[in-house]
Amino acid sequence: MSALERLREVDAHHQLEAVLAIPDHLRDALWRVESARLAPGEARGTMVCAMGGSAIGGELAAAALGERCTLPLLTVRGYELPAWTTPEWLVVCCSYSGNTEETLACMEAAGALGARRIAATTGGQLADAARAADVPVIGLPATIPVPRAAVAYMFAVAAEAATLAGASRIHTEIDAAAAHLEGSREGLLERAEGIAAELEGTVPVIYGADLTAPVARRWKTQINENPKLPAFWAELPEADHNEIEGWEGSEREAFSALFIEDVDQHPRERRRIELTAEAVAGNAAGVVRVATEGETRTERLLWAVALGDLVSLFLAAQRGVDPTPIDAIESFKRRLGST
Ligand code: F6R
Repeated sequence: MSALERLREVDAHHQLEAVLAIPDHLRDALWRVESARLAPGEARGTMVCAMGGSAIGGELAAAALGERCTLPLLTVRGYELPAWTTPEWLVVCCSYSGNTEETLACMEAAGALGARRIAATTGGQLADAARAADVPVIGLPATIPVPRAAVAYMFAVAAEAATLAGASRIHTEIDAAAAHLEGSREGLLERAEGIAAELEGTVPVIYGADLTAPVARRWKTQINENPKLPAFWAELPEADHNEIEGWEGSEREAFSALFIEDVDQHPRERRRIELTAEAVAGNAAGVVRVATEGETRTERLLWAVALGDLVSLFLAAQRGVDPTPIDAIESFKRRLGST
């Protein structure tokens, strides 16, 4: 049985189809933001308040925008807005379910502060709170198997919302990235299968820099949630100032190092990737290097996100586990008395 057949067999809720549908999600997200007819307005910057699979879109959008983000685009994970937040900030509350307590708390805090708010959700308490306060809602489709598979929606929402607070619009770039992903489909599947084979039986440590730092984080969280495996991520150059020391004491077969490279990285970051890969090789079960593919930052970013998502699914197939159920997260939320 091929790896793809094995994946289809365990993937009862069709996450593979959801990853392959990222191009459609991107186009649909742009349409949904457009339909929300958000009024232009001045702001000091944008804060995306969200958790987990709904939060990563904010960081990915900031990375894709890069220097085109002339005002801050921050992602806030937690119950409170930063103490320095003023009413001039645009607060975008993103929650796929609409029931994440941290995001609901930020929604309320932003309202109490008098900041401009936008919600992006399929419904739940977030949609109720938004409707009650006349806050515009970007409605998301409830048909996606899990919140983390709605990453393209959260990315496009954050990128578009940030244009209300000083970022250049990249909607045409997002549209082109959708086409690029469609054209890359076979190559991505093949590459992902190969990388999953290289990572098998090890704990991956994923490194990114600049554009690929939030991508590394996405790979890590997808490897946690889909195949239910430990994984870690770190950012260069910072990791060269501490983490490389830790490889000294690692058991040879325990960890794999994976580096996500991009042409736009600072030349010194690219050199650091080279040298860090060499430095850890002697203590790693394997070293994998991935170079992003695509013309624009958005194309390369989304290409790398899709690749990581697929790798996580192939890892689930290797373990024979259905990638979709997240029993540990759900039972934790129940123990906490959260929805
Ligand atoms: C589930 C997932 C989680 C959720 C998080 C927040 O697929 O990835 O990280 O995204 O628990 O829930 P939502 O997205 O509904 O606000």
